[in-house]
Amino acid sequence: MNGEYLNKITHGDALQILSKLESKSIDLVLTDPPYFLDKMDNAWNARKVGSITDYCHTIKSLPPGMKFDKEQGKKFYEWYYQVAKEVLRALKPGGFFFSFSSPRLYHRMVSAMDDAGFLIRDCFIWLYTQNQPKAMSLNHFIERLNEDKETRDDLIKQLNGWKTPQIKSCFEPIVMAQKEPDGTFLENFRKYNVGLLNTNVKIGQEMFPSNVVSTNKINEIVDKCFLISKPDKKEKGDFNLHRTVKPLSLCEYIINLTTYSNEAVVLDPFAGSGTTLVAAKKLGRKFIGIDINKEYIEISKRRLKSSEVDCSGYNAVSTEKQLRIFDKTVKYKKLNKRKIAKAV
Ligand SMILES: C[S@@+](CC[C@H](N)C(=O)[O-])C[C@H]1O[C@@H](n2cnc3c(N)ncnc32)[C@H](O)[C@@H]1O
Repeated sequence: MNGEYLNKITHGDALQILSKLESKSIDLVLTDPPYFLDKMDNAWNARKVGSITDYCHTIKSLPPGMKFDKEQGKKFYEWYYQVAKEVLRALKPGGFFFSFSSPRLYHRMVSAMDDAGFLIRDCFIWLYTQNQPKAMSLNHFIERLNEDKETRDDLIKQLNGWKTPQIKSCFEPIVMAQKEPDGTFLENFRKYNVGLLNTNVKIGQEMFPSNVVSTNKINEIVDKCFLISKPDKKEKGDFNLHRTVKPLSLCEYIINLTTYSNEAVVLDPFAGSGTTLVAAKKLGRKFIGIDINKEYIEISKRRLKSSEVDCSGYNAVSTEKQLRIFDKTVKYKKLNKRKIAKAV
């Protein structure tokens, strides 16, 4: 029944298309929905988002740090509750729902999924070291105060280095939720091929899979435990104008961890430039993508066209290690003991 959506990306509103998917037909939902910050909400418009002028998602007319609307979280909850209800229906029992979010509104997203009926199993963290700080100095406002120059200068001195409450954000939380299994984990898995995690997947240097992942080299100890391969410059495509492209290896990690065979169907209702779909295709899984913006669909199609299945005949039963991490040996500068102590 999902035939018309399978291995395609469909243009439309996620809630409408989701309602057309067959119940209990999807193995994994891996998605990166709008975060409901600035103009990135469920009526996301590619042109408006294109007008965001800096890396920290700030609209030109609104200086960073000036927009804080408590209604955003409530709207996000109400909308995501509806989305989660549909996702719950479409997933097989035991199927996983992974959803990215921002540290600021994660709680609303997860509460919506919890209230819609999901079991909230864990929180993954995508860790990085580089990001644009958003905190603002108050000097500009102090200079406009209707007070004498000496008072203003004193205040500027007193508040030297004190900024608006926005710390540099260096992680993205990803919730791992699960549809209630049908019977025991074993019974459910034998019936639906979902609901367990594949611990043959390794992270870092042959480590047991963890809920912390990093896609950039940080230091020897962090990389040993959490590094999944670094994004390749080519993977995004130089034609890709999407603002929030996720690393392919992160999507591959989650797909490998949760889907059993190449019969599995991976759904991304907010596909953007199609990273989840490309990862699913590369791993030989089936996929369904949805996005409300035609511009992004064209980008996804281009990326899908140029990506190849590179583990044909993949079968989780016979594959011991699925992620090809550290294919090439990574060379580190030797850290001295003091630096290591600092790092841990
Ligand atoms: C954060 S982006 C996803 C980016 C994606 N992970 C990637 O790597 O390119 C969220 C996407 O949701 C889409 N979107 C927003 N509202 C939507 C809706 N109501 N239905 C379907 N898609 C929607 C936006 O067009 C946007 O591309």
